[in-house]
Amino acid sequence: MSVMRSILLQMSQNKTATRAARKYGLRMGAERFVAGETLEAAIKKVRELNGLGLMATLDHLGEFVSSESEANAAAKDVVRAIEDIGSTGVNSNVSVKLTQLGLDISYELCRNNMRTIVSKAKQLGNFIRIDMEDYTRNEPAITMFKELRAEFGCHVGIVLQAYLYKTESDMERLHPLAPNYRLVKGAYQESSDVAFPFKVDVDHNFIHIIEKQLQSGHYAAIATHDEQIINHVKAYASKNGIPNSQFEFQMLFGIRTQLQQQLAGEGYAVRVYVPYGMDWYGYFMRRLAERPENLNFVLKSMFRR
Ligand code: FDA
Repeated sequence: MSVMRSILLQMSQNKTATRAARKYGLRMGAERFVAGETLEAAIKKVRELNGLGLMATLDHLGEFVSSESEANAAAKDVVRAIEDIGSTGVNSNVSVKLTQLGLDISYELCRNNMRTIVSKAKQLGNFIRIDMEDYTRNEPAITMFKELRAEFGCHVGIVLQAYLYKTESDMERLHPLAPNYRLVKGAYQESSDVAFPFKVDVDHNFIHIIEKQLQSGHYAAIATHDEQIINHVKAYASKNGIPNSQFEFQMLFGIRTQLQQQLAGEGYAVRVYVPYGMDWYGYFMRRLAERPENLNFVLKSMFRR
């Protein structure tokens, strides 16, 4: 892992910087990756994306909360997002992070919040995706997914990360649940004890788990901006008779926007991950870590009048 990537990933979990960022609003070029500070602003962006033939998943930014009141407030915000999606009629589901909903305080608190959220999604015919965070939260997230899947059926899905050695065996043990996965390369700083240290191996495993999920007959959301991998998936699906209805491509708001529209124009389902809110700092740092060239945006926006 490059030194710059490692520094940026360490910075992404800095609590003082997170608090400062919340106070000062969207800055440092974060507007490029974050749809706005409010749900209303985010819904407006979702409507624009829908107009271009793209679906969305809304993410109310926030993670690693340390008080019960913050966790409960975050759950209320997510419920409001589900309700507003229903009342405005935009085409979007919702992504959540378990540490925003109290996982680091207690599993039970987080589960209560998740039950409220997924039950609302089921009531309104929507879907909740559990984002995957760092390795220490991986097993609790999988347990949470299994419990919610048993209670609420197809209204909940989870993310699996190609950089973890364990992901392929997780897929095998979860197979009986017919899970709907979002498959990603993985965005956190992990030790080589648990994750492939080299990008070439992550890319290789990413292709492997995508093919495995497509072959299983269950739904796959393939979340990447890597054009080679996207082209591979297109060719693999067509060669193996996998219908377009069994998978979708997902990309992040503000990244490879032309490619998003091109794929939608070719008849593929494309969903854009639309983050919003004041807690943009950790998310933004991970985006910089993925592509340190993005630091140019930060420098330009600092000197912009
Ligand atoms: P890769 O990093 O190889 O990039 C391929 C190309 O894409 C680059 O050459 C560049 O052109 C472009 N690109 C990639 N990142 C960019 C950036 N930040 N800015 C500008 N261009 C960029 N991770 C996780 O651990 N848990 C999760 O729940 C999620 N959820 C999630 C949802 C969605 C919809 C996406 C697209 C991604 C995630 N991720 C994630 C992040 C994921 O793990 C990964 O870090 C990023 O997608 C970057 O990897 P790529 O697959 O894009 O490939």
